[in-house]
Amino acid sequence: MSVTVLNHSLIKHKLTNIRKTQTTTKDFYQNVNEIAGLMAYEITRDFPLKPVEIETPICKSVQYELANEVVIVPILRAGLGMVDGIRSMIPTAKVGFIGLYRDEETLEPHEYYAKFPETVKNSIVLLVDPMLATGGSASSAITMLKKRGCKDIRYVGLVAAPEGVRTLQKDHPDVPIYLAALDEKLNENGYIVPGLGDCGDRLFGTR
Ligand code: PRP
Ligand code: URA
Repeated sequence: MSVTVLNHSLIKHKLTNIRKTQTTTKDFYQNVNEIAGLMAYEITRDFPLKPVEIETPICKSVQYELANEVVIVPILRAGLGMVDGIRSMIPTAKVGFIGLYRDEETLEPHEYYAKFPETVKNSIVLLVDPMLATGGSASSAITMLKKRGCKDIRYVGLVAAPEGVRTLQKDHPDVPIYLAALDEKLNENGYIVPGLGDCGDRLFGTR
């Protein structure tokens, strides 16, 4: 399935802001949300519409609304940093949650939480996580969503390593991947190069 790296000057500018070491927690969180909102605007460009009959102050008219419900599913924790930005573009979206953490030595993902709206399986699911490194977390999250019957899943991330893209394409060839940047590689500790460091820690001020 397709990999789309969104080509937008504002996205590139804000991504540069969050890559800088000196960016504060407040500015980091704000820029991540702004990038997520801009990405949502681009990704939803061709979402299916349905005709609806409405009444303007002047006359009856047939206009268009989104045909499908949208569910945003952040992978905890770092995915939480993208939710508000996407909701500012799609305020009717519901939100589910997947709790996963990467074991720092084996880099294997471990599941600790899952909660979804009842409508998730018939919705367009935007699975969001800023970082696609080995791809293990995103691949496990997609497997969890598919087990719950989700059929239309789209992965939305900020920065990816080629290794993570390859893993997702191999494990879930039906899931389109949307990115703000495709970086060079993973380093020996499983961090994306040049990347932006530990996204969860930088979003929430932890270490
Ligand atoms: C980070 C990131 C992804 C994952 C990516 O989360 O937010 O979920 O690593 O790595 P992968 O592609 O190799 O699986 P982390 O496990 O550090 O948890 P956190 O969001 O709670 O900090
Ligand atoms: N998770 C992060 O937060 N950053 C990386 O570079 C890789 C995984």
